[in-house]
Amino acid sequence: MSDYEIQQRPRRLRMNATLRRMLEQVRLSCDDFVYPLFVKEGIKEDVAVVSMPGVFQRTLKSCVAEAKDAYKAGVPAIMLFGIPDKKDSKASGAYANDGIVQKAVSEIKAACPDLLVMTDVCLCEYMDHGHCGLVSKSGEILNDASLELLAQTALSHAQAGSDLVAPSDMMDFRVGAIRQMLDENGFTHIPIMSYAVKYASAFYGPFRDVAESAPKMGDRKSYQMNFSMTKEAIKEALLDESEGADIIMVKPAMAYLDIMRELRDVCSVPLAAYHVSGEYSMIKAASAQGWVDEMAVVKESFTAIKRAGAKIIITYFAKDFIQSL
Ligand code: PBG
Repeated sequence: MSDYEIQQRPRRLRMNATLRRMLEQVRLSCDDFVYPLFVKEGIKEDVAVVSMPGVFQRTLKSCVAEAKDAYKAGVPAIMLFGIPDKKDSKASGAYANDGIVQKAVSEIKAACPDLLVMTDVCLCEYMDHGHCGLVSKSGEILNDASLELLAQTALSHAQAGSDLVAPSDMMDFRVGAIRQMLDENGFTHIPIMSYAVKYASAFYGPFRDVAESAPKMGDRKSYQMNFSMTKEAIKEALLDESEGADIIMVKPAMAYLDIMRELRDVCSVPLAAYHVSGEYSMIKAASAQGWVDEMAVVKESFTAIKRAGAKIIITYFAKDFIQSL
């Protein structure tokens, strides 16, 4: 037995700023982030979005310019969303070869070849009813019939030059359908980041203002997950992995860090978190009032997301935050 009474004093490691920095377990870098951009067909000028200060529906030209600017600022990757001129009941604009996203991808890749361009694969922005899949006369979301359209959409993105496709529709089996379509057409090298664990969330409200994608009737609860579910997240993630997903996403981020932490133990692919529109807007609103320090809150949030297990964070703050690093 020792003669000394050893006192544990955790504060010893907190006294010196250099030592505190040296001991950090999670550190953010430019390469953690993906910056979402919205390109809208048929507008002459950018349209500001009231519920998301700093986010715009962009003209094709402005979208290309912003992508370039973001790349110069150190942003490694963008995620593209399109808003078509015309919507219909089969989302024709989503998989049109001359669709707005397809045009934006090829222009951005030509202007900025080293910027990683990801494309969101979904039908909701292109459907007159605003749902993420085909809808039957009785209002039912048609899972299997939607798969072909989603796969066509992903293929058209790859043909336009997309570096990675990210299906967000939440139909069952869409990862497998997209993988097969890409492989059969010579795009075996294009990865899929699946929005595998996507909850039916009120935090998407502001996004639907920007993307003009709010469902006209009903809600998304028959395809997006119930936010009280934990085990189902594991089921969704592993199923998507087995269908060929290369990266698994959890969405939203902050309210779902327990889910991220669970997936970290069971998934063998990298994990991504989508810090969604409502999470962005709440921070923007509070900081505009002077109630919180915007970048301090953002840094703390992203550190927590990474600590929980995310390798990649998709966020509207990406460019500003990287500039603050
Ligand atoms: C499309 C899609 C949505 C988001 C990303 N892709 C909205 C939705 O499911 O209604 C939300 C992103 C955000 O809120 O920032 N299906």
